[in-house]
Amino acid sequence: MSELWSGRASAYVESDAHREGEDLDLLVEWAAGARTALDVATGGGHVARRLREAGLEVVTCDPAPGMQPDVVCHAEHLPFDAGSFDVVACRTAAHHFADVAASLREMARVAADRVLLVDTVNMGDAVEEAERLRDPSHVRNYTDGEWRELVLGAGLGLDDVRFLAHSFDFEAWLARTGCEGDDAERARALLGDRVADGRITLDKIAIRAVKGG
Ligand SMILES: C[S@@+](CC[C@H](N)C(=O)[O-])C[C@H]1O[C@@H](n2cnc3c(N)ncnc32)[C@H](O)[C@@H]1O
Repeated sequence: MSELWSGRASAYVESDAHREGEDLDLLVEWAAGARTALDVATGGGHVARRLREAGLEVVTCDPAPGMQPDVVCHAEHLPFDAGSFDVVACRTAAHHFADVAASLREMARVAADRVLLVDTVNMGDAVEEAERLRDPSHVRNYTDGEWRELVLGAGLGLDDVRFLAHSFDFEAWLARTGCEGDDAERARALLGDRVADGRITLDKIAIRAVKGG
């Protein structure tokens, strides 16, 4: 799986869907007052870039060496001491993790103050099927309720939860994972009116979770 992601590295650095977004602004706002951060599943490094621009000292990690993280590791096993970072952030990645509950526990352990999460929220079975057709490494988008349970199960408190709609280029979304032909047609049909005027709109959840909450 890491080789698959390494092969996609430049596509994720360039990606319009990852480079920008209201969710990145929110992560920066929620990180205010922190000095250090860990960007888990950094991919193209967009969270790290924005947090560094805001003055934070950031360490990146990702299991795919091609993403050129500071540390190569899975979210389920973070090789850092407890409380190593003021903020731990993870954006648009948890739906790929083999064990999301273990990854949340690890993020909670290495955070000193807060864990900031953004991911595509579950939009029903048709969208899940489209996501798997488009990218076989897709595990699952979680519902609002599942996210709350995961956060509380990791021993964190829920400080703020927001919902955002994120629109980006549909063909580029398919191309990033090499989805074409019948699979692309089927994914398009499953997504229904989430695709319009060449753009796809997906719902995201953003969670600010705190230690000792
Ligand atoms: C969509 S990209 C991340 C996007 C990035 N966080 C951003 O905001 O632009 C998903 C990343 O998750 C990583 N990944 C996949 N499985 C993982 C796991 N179990 N633990 C940590 N990262 C994982 C992949 O290597 C890939 O870089």
